[in-house]
Amino acid sequence: MTPLRRNRKTEREWSDRVPSSEELVIALPKGRILKEVMPLIRAAGIEPEPAFDDPASRLLQFRTNHPNISIIRVRSFDVATFVAFGAAQLGVAGNDVLLEFDYPEIYAPVDLDIGHCHIAVAQPKELEEDRDPSRWSHIRIATKYPNLTHKFFAEAGIQAECIKLSGAMELAPGLGLCRRIVDLVSTGATLEANGLVEVERILDISSRLVVNRAALKTRSVELNGWIEKFREVVNAA
Ligand code: PRP
Repeated sequence: MTPLRRNRKTEREWSDRVPSSEELVIALPKGRILKEVMPLIRAAGIEPEPAFDDPASRLLQFRTNHPNISIIRVRSFDVATFVAFGAAQLGVAGNDVLLEFDYPEIYAPVDLDIGHCHIAVAQPKELEEDRDPSRWSHIRIATKYPNLTHKFFAEAGIQAECIKLSGAMELAPGLGLCRRIVDLVSTGATLEANGLVEVERILDISSRLVVNRAALKTRSVELNGWIEKFREVVNAA
């Protein structure tokens, strides 16, 4: 057996655990935001097993220093889904994701004051003459936020036809899929690099601690304890 195979087997053993009713699963978003999330998780006294920081590991669920707590690392949109369906009891999600899904099962009690960015409408620089949204009546938009986008424009009396993409929507105007996009803007570098300019700011974003409402009722002391702990960590930061 090669060392690689042996490692895989070890990882499978870790992840085959059957969730018990006492297990607390925390869903965290992977990608850039995770670097901002982890100092808060650690300040709250939760330390994941070493594989969490090992880029070679293919594990998706990680044990922590608390015997009943594990961490899963998933796409930011999927954090909301895992928490809404009670597969995870706690999580970290941006208000962009929360508004897009609008899951009634999710309670977002703490603004973690991290992951600051915004959602904006952007279009090619060349569309200079058409930068005023108040003059639009019907537009086609590529976005990973079709619900949020549709609602935003409907409130302004503009009919938005949304084309759902999961990433790289900055490509869409240049390839003729649409003239405009609605996407996350952090530094603005991706828009700039792809010849786009921001024309309307839709929503300011930060990350929230999210909790499954049913779990909050049935495990009130435990989950309220963690909510309080994260409040303290944010206030101390
Ligand atoms: C996000 C977003 C933009 C980019 C903006 O993508 O969709 O493409 O970041 O950041 P900037 O303003 O600092 O350039 P992300 O890198 O999260 O990957 P994704 O396309 O897979 O969502």
